[in-house]
Amino acid sequence: MKTYSANRKVMVVTGASSGIGLAIATALCAKGIDVIGVGRSPERCDQATASIAAAVPGAGIAFEIADLSSQTQVRELAARLRMRLGAAYSGQLAALINNAGAIANWYTATEDGYELQFALNHLATFLLTLELLPNLASGAPARVVTVSSASHRNTRIHWKDVMLRRNYNTLLAYKQSKLANVMFTAEFNRRHAASGVRAYAADPGLVNTEIGMKGTSGIVAWFWDRRRRGGKSPEYGAATAVHLATDPSVASFPGIYWKDSRPKAPSAYALREAEASRLWELSERLCGIGE
Ligand SMILES: NC(=O)c1ccc[n+]([C@@H]2O[C@H](COP(=O)([O-])OP(=O)(O)OC[C@H]3O[C@@H](n4cnc5c(N)ncnc54)[C@H](OP(=O)(O)O)[C@@H]3O)[C@@H](O)[C@H]2O)c1
Repeated sequence: MKTYSANRKVMVVTGASSGIGLAIATALCAKGIDVIGVGRSPERCDQATASIAAAVPGAGIAFEIADLSSQTQVRELAARLRMRLGAAYSGQLAALINNAGAIANWYTATEDGYELQFALNHLATFLLTLELLPNLASGAPARVVTVSSASHRNTRIHWKDVMLRRNYNTLLAYKQSKLANVMFTAEFNRRHAASGVRAYAADPGLVNTEIGMKGTSGIVAWFWDRRRRGGKSPEYGAATAVHLATDPSVASFPGIYWKDSRPKAPSAYALREAEASRLWELSERLCGIGE
């Protein structure tokens, strides 16, 4: 494993073992930024490390393994990250890129008893960000970039059954989780304006990855296999998140939702302050924060 050099910036990228996250990690390393990737599979993380090292000789890449659908593992991951940041970067984190995500075509309960897409795509983002907030504040001006999706449009938070236990639907659960990403971003900026940390949501567009073929089968896997062929490359999908994490000019724009490296209006629902505040408080309860 590489020895980190002093005075280099470091960023954490979740879901860096494949797809858009791997492309984000590679692009950041190419800019001379050290990256700590997070993945759930040691084998895929080793493959990703080799791929990044081949693309960027001398890359500052390391991986941490965690299943982010487990809140225990998110907290343990955060503790390991804080140790690493303290040891090599004076505790400072320049950016957290919340990219890990999944699609599940049947109702799947996590070990905490939550619906998988809500737990992984939203709650892990929420919890890991708050766990690393002191390091981000110490690295300010720092960024939290969460990879959302155009799927956040034309949907809402299903307050009476957030886990969709009564009426599970793959797309409904995915759309709700991606809407939660944007609402979290907006609410983070309201609640932590003084921290020097700014949050953004990145829309990568349709990208040719295997996301819809993992944890799925039948019609969902078949549909995604065909749909993804019209998608852009992971490198293209990564560009907006990389821009948000690294470009100083981003701070001069008020927009929180970006696509093609430009601000774009998110759905009107995503900007409802009362709903976002309610989601924040629900997320705190579901993560056992403040108990
Ligand atoms: N592809 C698109 O068209 C598209 C469009 C809009 C938004 N997005 C968003 O982009 C993000 C990345 O998706 P992608 O298309 O690049 O899919 P992907 O190739 O499947 O990448 C997802 C990443 O998340 C990791 N991951 C999945 N479950 C995990 C868990 N329980 N714990 C830890 N890591 C986990 C995966 O690990 P493994 O390598 O082990 O599978 C992988 O590294 C997602 O948030 C997705 O919602 C994608």
